[in-house]
Amino acid sequence: MIAARIIGHRGASSLAPENTLAAIRAAANAGVLWVEIDVRLLGDGTAVVHHDETVERCTDGAGPLSRYDRMSIRWLDAGRWYGDEFAGERIPLLTEALFLIRKLDLGVNLELKAVSRAAARQLGAAVAGDLRAAAMPRERVLVSSFEPLALEASRERARSLLIGCLWSRLPLDWRQRAVALGAASIHCNWQFLTERTAHAVKAAGLELYCYTVNDSKAFLPYWRWGVDGIFTDRPQDFLLGGSPIGIG
Ligand code: G3P
Ligand code: MG
Repeated sequence: MIAARIIGHRGASSLAPENTLAAIRAAANAGVLWVEIDVRLLGDGTAVVHHDETVERCTDGAGPLSRYDRMSIRWLDAGRWYGDEFAGERIPLLTEALFLIRKLDLGVNLELKAVSRAAARQLGAAVAGDLRAAAMPRERVLVSSFEPLALEASRERARSLLIGCLWSRLPLDWRQRAVALGAASIHCNWQFLTERTAHAVKAAGLELYCYTVNDSKAFLPYWRWGVDGIFTDRPQDFLLGGSPIGIG
């Protein structure tokens, strides 16, 4: 298995402000072995961990990420919106997050988010560089994106990188697209997944990961379909003493 059964989504966003170092620590404390985090570029080309194109929802700042650079982004508080105890959290640089993930002995799914095709290529290249700088072990990293160009660009600079194709609903030609990218996994929205497609993905030799699963009971049948792992905001609901609950 590439990743893990239970993957903390945006760190563990039910336990700490999403995509912060605190959220990664919270996920590790909850017992997860892997986390998913979102990656975007600042205006100066620095890769950071953040979900939205703009900073309003998760910080005390305003405007698009592209208006910030690696110095000015430090002024934003990315924790207080979630709770006073998280005041002082920052939008992490990708390199900072990778160093923490390594220190905590976790694996990571980097979800690359880009605003344009050109930005996708730049992001893919930046991420490959940061992975090298952080000396992340190959088997602890899975890079995914809704944007194939970002995956191609990262693969060009890191040939052995493990790649996952990410879709909300799988397109009809999912298999050809996965082969073209040399993908090892398919990531999709569980609410659009059918049993038939799940079996087809597994029969194609690909791993299958679903987002964002927060209802452990509703998801039980999906495990039987062969789903390998889930992204969840609530890893505490899926793990008992570090072991996944109710998965045969
Ligand atoms: O990587 C899976 C999932 O995180 C994709 O959706 O919007 O939560 O980043 P989103
Ligand atoms: Mg994501």
